Amino acid sequence: MTGFSGCGGSTHWQQRADVVVIGTGVAGLVAGLAAHRRGRKVIVLDKAGEHAGATATGYAQGGIAVVLPGTGDSVDAHVADTLAAGGGLCDADAVHSIVADGYRAVRDLVHDGACFDEATPGQLALTREGGHSQRRIIHAGGDATGAEVQRALDQAARVLDIRHHHVAVRVLRDDTAVTGVLVLNEDGPGVVHAPAVILATGGLGHLYAATTNPEGATGDGIALALWAGVPVADIEFVQFHPTMLFDGHTGGRRPLVSEALRGEGARLVDAHGEPITVGVHPMGDLAPRDVVAGAIDARLKATGDPCVYLDARHVSGIAHRFPTVTAACRRVGIDPARQPIPVVPGAHYSCGGVVTDVDGRTALPGLFAAGEVARTGMHGANRLASNSLLEGLVVGGRAGRGAAEHAVAAGPSRAVAPDRLAAASLGRRDVQAAMSRDASVVRDRHGLTRLRDVLAASTTRPLRHRADVEDAALTLTAQAVAVAALQRAESRGCHHRGDHPGADPAQAFSGAVELDETGHVGLKVRAGACC
Ligand code: SIN
Repeated sequence: MTGFSGCGGSTHWQQRADVVVIGTGVAGLVAGLAAHRRGRKVIVLDKAGEHAGATATGYAQGGIAVVLPGTGDSVDAHVADTLAAGGGLCDADAVHSIVADGYRAVRDLVHDGACFDEATPGQLALTREGGHSQRRIIHAGGDATGAEVQRALDQAARVLDIRHHHVAVRVLRDDTAVTGVLVLNEDGPGVVHAPAVILATGGLGHLYAATTNPEGATGDGIALALWAGVPVADIEFVQFHPTMLFDGHTGGRRPLVSEALRGEGARLVDAHGEPITVGVHPMGDLAPRDVVAGAIDARLKATGDPCVYLDARHVSGIAHRFPTVTAACRRVGIDPARQPIPVVPGAHYSCGGVVTDVDGRTALPGLFAAGEVARTGMHGANRLASNSLLEGLVVGGRAGRGAAEHAVAAGPSRAVAPDRLAAASLGRRDVQAAMSRDASVVRDRHGLTRLRDVLAASTTRPLRHRADVEDAALTLTAQAVAVAALQRAESRGCHHRGDHPGADPAQAFSGAVELDETGHVGLKVRAGACC
C-alpha cells in the first residue's frame, strides 16, 4: 500500500470496486452476495476482526416473521399487524411489498444453507411474539435464529472479498452521485473508488449505557448518510425491548430474553407477583413492544424497584426450546425453570434510519441502505417483533441487485477524499450518560433540551482510530435523535413524551433530519410517506 496523488492529501492507499458493502449482518451479506452473483466486483467492509465481528443478526433470538403457504396465515394479516404496531407511521405499500416478498427471501436463505426448526418433518415450527395475531415466526436452534442465519450467510459469503478491520469514515460523492468510500485500516486512511455503496451498518444501541446490541452498533450508517447529505427519518423511534436480562450490571451489551418466551406463555410480574400489563392492552403481555416497555417503565417508577420479572417456570422444556436465554440466565446464577427471570427494558432497535425506497435506494444516486440502518417505511413508529430479519433479507437482496445494476450504468468512478480527517464529537460515555438520562423510554422537553445542549458542546477531533469514528458517529446520531424527539411533541409508538402523553393526529407524519452546510442537524419535516 503506497501513497498516491489525486485522491486527497491525507490518504495512503486506494482500491477499486463496483459495489462496496459496509457491514456483515444479514442485510450486508445478502446484498453483497446478490451483487457478486451478478458478476460485480464487491468489497465488503467490516470494522471488526474476522472472529470478533458479532452482528445484531447473530444475536437475534426470536426469529423471522414470514407468511408460509398452507398455514392459514395471509400477507394481509401480517401487513395489518405491522401497521397496527407502527403507530400510524408505516408506509402501507412498503410493508406490503416487503411482507409479500418474505417467503421467497426465506426460501433463498434456506437454499444458501440455513436450517430452521421443524414441528414435524418438512413442516417449519411457528411461534408467536408481541403484536402478531398469528403464529408466524420461524426460528432455528430454539432461540438461536440469528446465529443460524449468520452461520449460513458467513458460509455462503466465503466467495466475497471481506476486509476486516476496515472502518468506513465517509461516503465520498461528487455533485450528483456516490464515488467511493474513505476508509481507515491498519495502513491508515485510504479510498475505495466505487460507483455504488450499500450501508448495512446495523443500529445505534450504544447511544445508551445498556443495550442488547453488539458493540459495533454505534450509529455509523446514520452518520455516514448525514455527512453525505442524505436524510434520515423517524430516528426518534428507538425501540426498547421489554425484557433485557437484569443482573445488577448496567453497562454495555446485555443479554436479551426473547419475546418468544411470552409467546410460549411466560408472564411479566413485579417483585410482588403482580401482573404488569393487565388492563393496559387487550393483548396483555403480548401487546406491541412499545406498550409493554412503557408499562414496565411505569411500574418501575411507581415501585422504585430495579427490575421486574419474567416468570417462565411453567414453559415446558424451556432449556431445550430456549437454550440461549437459559445459558445467559445460568451465567448470572438464575435457573429459568425454577426462578423468575429479572428483566428491564433495554435499547434494542432503531425503527427509523436512512430514508430509502423498498429497493434500498436513497436520495443520492449510488447510495443504498438496507437492514436496521434504513428507513423503508416498514416499521413506522414501532417495529413489530421479528420483522427486522425479514426486512434485512428482502431489502438486502434488492439493494444488492440495484447496486449491481447502478454500477454498470454509472461506470467506474473516481473519488476525492477530504484533506482533513476530523469530525465533531463528544466522549462516548458522555453521549451514553446524556442519552440514557434524557432520551430513554420516556422523554420530555426539559430533558431533550438539556440533551441537545450537552451534545452541542462537542468539539472537532481527528479521526485516527475506529473509536474516534464511532464517537463521532454516536455524537451526530444522538444529535439527530435529540432534534427529532424534541420536535415530536406527542407520544406515538416507541416515542413516549412524559409531557405529551397522548398521540396528536396532527403529527401523524414522519420527520426527516438533515445536516446543513454549517454542520448543524436540522429537521426537515415531510408529510406522508417520507421523501
Ligand atoms: C426477541 O426475540 O424478542 C427479539 C426479536 C426481535 O427483536 O424482533
